[in-house]
Amino acid sequence: MRKAPSGLSPVIALDRASGKPLHKQLYEGFCTAILARSLRPGQRVPSSRALALELRVSRIPVLNAYAQLLAEGYFEARSGSGTFVSRSLPDQGVSLECGDNTPPVVRSRPRQVSRRSALLRLYKPAPWANKWGAFIVGQLAFEHFPFPVWSSLLNRHVRNVRVNSLHYGDPMGSESFRATIAGYLRTARAVKCNASQIMIVSGSQQALDLCARVLLDSGDRLWIEEPGYWLARHAFVMAGCRLVPVPVDEEGLNVAEGIARSQKARAAFVTPSHQFPLGVTMSASRRLQLLDWAHRSGAWIIEDDYDNEYRYESMPIASLQGLDRNSRVIYIGTFSKTLFPSLRLGYIVIPPDLVDRFRAVRHAMDVYPPHLYQAVLDDFIGEGHFVRHIRKTRVLYSERRNILVDAIRKEFGASVEILGAEAGVHLVMTLPGGRRDRSISRQAAREDLWLWPLSSCYLEKPRQGFILGFGSSAPSEIPKAMTNLRTVIESAHPRSEE
Ligand SMILES: Cc1ncc(COP(=O)(O)O)c(C=O)c1O
Repeated sequence: MRKAPSGLSPVIALDRASGKPLHKQLYEGFCTAILARSLRPGQRVPSSRALALELRVSRIPVLNAYAQLLAEGYFEARSGSGTFVSRSLPDQGVSLECGDNTPPVVRSRPRQVSRRSALLRLYKPAPWANKWGAFIVGQLAFEHFPFPVWSSLLNRHVRNVRVNSLHYGDPMGSESFRATIAGYLRTARAVKCNASQIMIVSGSQQALDLCARVLLDSGDRLWIEEPGYWLARHAFVMAGCRLVPVPVDEEGLNVAEGIARSQKARAAFVTPSHQFPLGVTMSASRRLQLLDWAHRSGAWIIEDDYDNEYRYESMPIASLQGLDRNSRVIYIGTFSKTLFPSLRLGYIVIPPDLVDRFRAVRHAMDVYPPHLYQAVLDDFIGEGHFVRHIRKTRVLYSERRNILVDAIRKEFGASVEILGAEAGVHLVMTLPGGRRDRSISRQAAREDLWLWPLSSCYLEKPRQGFILGFGSSAPSEIPKAMTNLRTVIESAHPRSEE
């Protein structure tokens, strides 16, 4: 039989001093030659023995490299004939350096992405929010979190892993945790629910995304509070909804105005217990009007009850869901404000007839919520630590809030309004005298003040002011930070450009 002629060897520079194994260098050398088309599809490659001789290496690294190239489809073996560059590789194609980790340069434009994703501005931290500072929103008194208890519960579950907790589970979440949450909501929030209606999610944001996917179609109109929560806006914009800003006044969302602007809207997003950001509690008459509108027009109400555990002058407000006689309200809650946001745990209370829809959509999204923190939090609540933590932090935040309110009054007197100080871990301070909140926020960031401009919460005519968080501000630092804020505001020119 005629012996098959040996193939040509590509130039492969082996570096014996480098830490990279020889078989890896050989593999990358062939890949690069193939992708750069210095070796063509169908071309014969040298036998492993010939190449080993030529490169003066043992045959083992060559055999290993060939095995890898065969497994990945760069080479093909033809019995009796030898080894070839795979004929199924395209003859023309991208030219890449194999093993080179730098991303390829994008030459072709435009590169098409979904219209949906292009509806959102690119994510980057706001210029006033790129470092930690006084009045930061969304941060809490973590130094008072019972970490020893949390760690011991975490250890308990890490050490005693039950096999069934490793399997896929119900898209709604752990049965035991859902029962615990249902019990808590019935008692603390007058939510009408049982465990079968509770779905565990990774915070309010996933809940909003799910609501949009289940309840709304692209092009549907949705009432959104004006001013309102920007991340809720993002979730609904992503779903292709048309946002209808509905003004909030001292009674909460102005339902009559919503009806005037879009009676046929498919849904309304509201924060009735503590409106974000203004802090208004929706009055009973507005609640009944909203429920009545939803019932008559077949619309959904998405109730975001994000920080109602913290009320300083009255008992926590009962939920809107608890007043609903027609199962029109989808109720959302989170542990981001009571425990810590990186926990990424929240829940939805779903009307009974929609549970199967939500379950199916959730299954298609991320299958099932991770088990570990559900189990830990279930014990944390069940053993009374959650309620103890809320009781303790309520006193703490109440003190911080009082100090903040006093500091604002001391520095600004009656020239500013304080809104929404009755609950939660932030309040709003309006800005006097035609000054622009965004430019002041940027300037304040240089003084280690973290000020969220109120105007960023508006879609229409913005009011100027700041959302001031007091959850993580040490009481002793609040008065000094407020004096700094006054200096920054006074040095800002009225109507300075943004
Ligand atoms: C109105 C509102 N809803 C919900 C949340 C919490 O969101 P998540 O549960 O996604 O952390 C926040 C946090 O700032 C909020 O302001």
